[in-house]
Amino acid sequence: MGKILIIDDELSLREFLQILLSKDNHEVEVAVNGEAGIELLRQQEFDVVLTDLRMPGAVDGMGVLRYVREHRPSVQIVMMTAFATTETAIEAMKLGAYDYLQKPFKNEELQALVHKCLEKRALLKENVQLKSELQERYNFGNFLGKSPQMVSLFDLLHKVAQSEINVLITGENGTGKELVARALHYNGPRSGRPFVPVNCGAIPEQLLESELFGHTKGAFTGADRDKMGLFQVADGGTLFLDEIGEMPSHIQVKLLRVLQEKSIRPLGGAKEQAVDVRILSATNKNLQDEVKAGSFREDLFFRLNVLTVEIPALRERLEDIPLLAHHFLNLYGKNSGGSHVQGISRDAMELLVNYDFPGNVRELENLIERGLLFESEDMLQPESLPANVRNRSTSTLPTVELEQLALPHEGLEVFLEKVERQLLELALEQANGVRKEAAKLLKISFRSFRYRLAKLSMSE
Ligand SMILES: Nc1ncnc2c1ncn2[C@@H]1O[C@H](COP(=O)(O)OP(=O)(O)OP(=O)(O)O)[C@@H](O)[C@H]1O
Ligand SMILES: [Mg+2]
Repeated sequence: MGKILIIDDELSLREFLQILLSKDNHEVEVAVNGEAGIELLRQQEFDVVLTDLRMPGAVDGMGVLRYVREHRPSVQIVMMTAFATTETAIEAMKLGAYDYLQKPFKNEELQALVHKCLEKRALLKENVQLKSELQERYNFGNFLGKSPQMVSLFDLLHKVAQSEINVLITGENGTGKELVARALHYNGPRSGRPFVPVNCGAIPEQLLESELFGHTKGAFTGADRDKMGLFQVADGGTLFLDEIGEMPSHIQVKLLRVLQEKSIRPLGGAKEQAVDVRILSATNKNLQDEVKAGSFREDLFFRLNVLTVEIPALRERLEDIPLLAHHFLNLYGKNSGGSHVQGISRDAMELLVNYDFPGNVRELENLIERGLLFESEDMLQPESLPANVRNRSTSTLPTVELEQLALPHEGLEVFLEKVERQLLELALEQANGVRKEAAKLLKISFRSFRYRLAKLSMSE
């Protein structure tokens, strides 16, 4: 419920509105003219102002609007107007009034409008709150989050940044692996030296070796001059080996040697050159599986993976979605020269929180950037989100057709148990028997999943 200021010179209307809105549990104050209204706005905090447009005295409705826009920008203001001044009221909306009501108006019309104003005010407040949270604590460099998983990850990252150990960063696509690598470098003792990213999957195999270790003039056809390798470029700093799982095996051998010896020998070169490089690497594969399968060297794996930093998928940390969505809203709003979109509507946010984000944070970022382009209102609406986000039924589980439902002869409990059992079985089947995955498919915690299995005597 909100705090509402009514400004009108007509006593009967003031009294009527006060009674009507108080009944809806709002806290209501009244003022007899613009000056008195502004005085109250100075002293107290309001959510919504309902003001008459034309009032005797020095300050009319437009004057109140100007004051509110300048001094209380998140307060929502509604103009009440007689038919003759409707055009001025429309003018007022252009200047930032939320809406106008033409007298005489219906009670429900007023109540609905107040409700909408309060919702908008709450969203704006939330936005401000999230912005200040962003500035406060929920981050490690530009890597943001407020879920418990992320907060404890930040603790770990703060410690790791100060050390020199090699770190393997794992996570699905778009979870922020590169962002973490950069933040580790720029928050550590090597921040004054280069951060050099190498995408092991994107450089052709024949070139990767000379890219990493350099070559001398004449080392191979086309090598017409000496070339420094990325290890030398990164000397004193950090080398980020992205998509390390894609590294061909003969280069894995060389890399291992460099890590052991702390020196490189350029292709065609005779001399070893000492290098001092911290290695951060990243993969979206399960490197341990690659080791088992023989495609990744175990000894190299242990060298690179002194510590693993595992970034959870976005769908596993729903608390981060509103925070990140607002972060991107502010970021892209500013970039596009100040977008008119000020926040995210509840309906749109609900869709985002319910979406499973196979592309993780990068997908959320793209969604918001695109949404800002499409949105014509001042709050991001569901219509500006792509169809796959709007159609929430991402789950492949069968839906119960309500029309076909009959009352279960065996009784509710037994019936629900049967349904539950079937759904658990289906999820297990789709997850190839991996229980953690099955729990994810059902969007319940692993604990809850285990508990349900045990309850239905389904666990072996
Ligand atoms: N926690 C976060 N806070 C802020 N921005 C984030 C966060 N996580 C990811 N991003 C942003 O999402 C985008 C993708 O992040 P990044 O490139 O680091 O992901 P990645 O894990 O390396 O992805 P890929 O596996 O596809 O290479 C970037 O624009 C990054 O800034
Ligand atoms: Mg990446």
